[in-house]
Amino acid sequence: MDLLIQLDRSAPLSLHQQLYEAIRQAILEGQLLPGQRLPSTRSLAHSLSVSRTTVTQSYEQLLSQGYLETMHGSGTYVCAQLPDFLGRSGPVNTAPPERSPVSLSPYGTRLQQTALIQQPEPATPISFRYGRPALDRFPLKLWRQLLVRHSRRSDWLDYASDLQGYLPLRQAIARYLARVRAVRCDPAQIVMTNGTQQAIALVLRLLIQPGDGIALEEPGYLSARRIFLSHGAALLPIPVDASGLVVEKLVATADATVRLVYVTPSHQFPTGSILSLARRLELLDWVQQSGAMILEDDYDSEYRYGDRPIPALQGLASSESVIYCGTFSKVLFPSLRLGYLVLPCSLVPLVTQAKWLSDRQLPLLDQMVLADFIAAGHLESHIRKMRSHYDHNRQTLVQALTQQFGQQVEVLGEQAGIHVMVRFHLPFSHDEILDRITQAGVGVMSAQPHYCQPNDRSEFIFGYGELTPAQIQEGIAGIAQALDAAHIDSLHKLS
Ligand SMILES: Cc1ncc(COP(=O)(O)O)c(C=O)c1O
Repeated sequence: MDLLIQLDRSAPLSLHQQLYEAIRQAILEGQLLPGQRLPSTRSLAHSLSVSRTTVTQSYEQLLSQGYLETMHGSGTYVCAQLPDFLGRSGPVNTAPPERSPVSLSPYGTRLQQTALIQQPEPATPISFRYGRPALDRFPLKLWRQLLVRHSRRSDWLDYASDLQGYLPLRQAIARYLARVRAVRCDPAQIVMTNGTQQAIALVLRLLIQPGDGIALEEPGYLSARRIFLSHGAALLPIPVDASGLVVEKLVATADATVRLVYVTPSHQFPTGSILSLARRLELLDWVQQSGAMILEDDYDSEYRYGDRPIPALQGLASSESVIYCGTFSKVLFPSLRLGYLVLPCSLVPLVTQAKWLSDRQLPLLDQMVLADFIAAGHLESHIRKMRSHYDHNRQTLVQALTQQFGQQVEVLGEQAGIHVMVRFHLPFSHDEILDRITQAGVGVMSAQPHYCQPNDRSEFIFGYGELTPAQIQEGIAGIAQALDAAHIDSLHKLS
């Protein structure tokens, strides 16, 4: 073998690995040809001044990977069956191939064009970030006990036989929804999902094709809108006022292409308004006539302060026109990834199939634990405790905002949920307000991305679930200082 092999004894790579790499490279570059004989381990070890074990190890690695072969009694050869391109047409480029543009499906192309991935929020000492419950108040000990109890069984290790989700969990949810949300459903209508996100995605996959219309609240839930766009839906934004979606506007503007209306009637996201009974009936009447479906997202209706919760839209509907979805992300914790769809009976087999095709099933152990948690009354007792905690936070936030900003602020949607929407009336642009707040070390979320139509409204979403009252006060005081609230308020009072 006329091959110059140089081994470096000071290199971090072992000698046998270096030898392996050198021979492999020689084969790939055509310096060693298919069928060519290699020196015996003894003679190669001698010429390289290494041990015979070193050479044997390298040969064995190359043999096991198919670069070399042995012929009984006659030595070691470069494999004769190497792919055609090796050793024939000169050196092979072994550098990692440059990424060639992958040809995408229409779905892939839409994802690429609409930059759907959310940017992480910058970390700040105090953050009114949206959507986080008070995780430090979660009854972890209780959850752990249930987890340990169920993990002693072994039936959760296998594939689930129940493709709609664990039956005792669906039974517990059906009872809970009937009692607390006046949803009319049988456990057979429930399909467990990986949160609301998967629930919406499954519904879209089954009902919507590119070009179909979806009416949605303006402003509305961005993550839902992203799913709609990824499916190529034509969006029809409908304004929202203090009584929720302006159904009159929907009736006046929707055409026959509108197949779905996505609404958050119990606590409109993000404005917090509640869809009035009159509008609920009007909406149900319209879908009855138009043949469109309603997708009702009931994401945080459990937290309602003052009056009784308004029953779900689904419970008012006389036909199969409402698909209801709920989640445990707010009432328990978001990484649980358990939500559910309550479906018209005709859609249950299809949604079940679509779900099975995409992810087979949800983890069974978590569903067993949750079923027990609900059936034993822990869910409702946790909600009761959290409601009073959130109520305290909510009052602290509203008070702090009004104290600091007087007439410069409007607080919307404080009657429910774990966030409010704040509208500032200040002599600064939206971007300047956001910059000043961020520089003061406080995190808030702009409401702008939740609008389909660009605007310069100074509206922000303030989540208050995970903060303490002291943090809320400190955060709002910091914002007020950054926005020079006292000075502006005094000017306002003078004028
Ligand atoms: C309007 C709305 N729906 C649903 C959810 C919950 O989504 P998931 O169940 O996928 O965590 C949220 C959470 O932020 C939300 O704001």
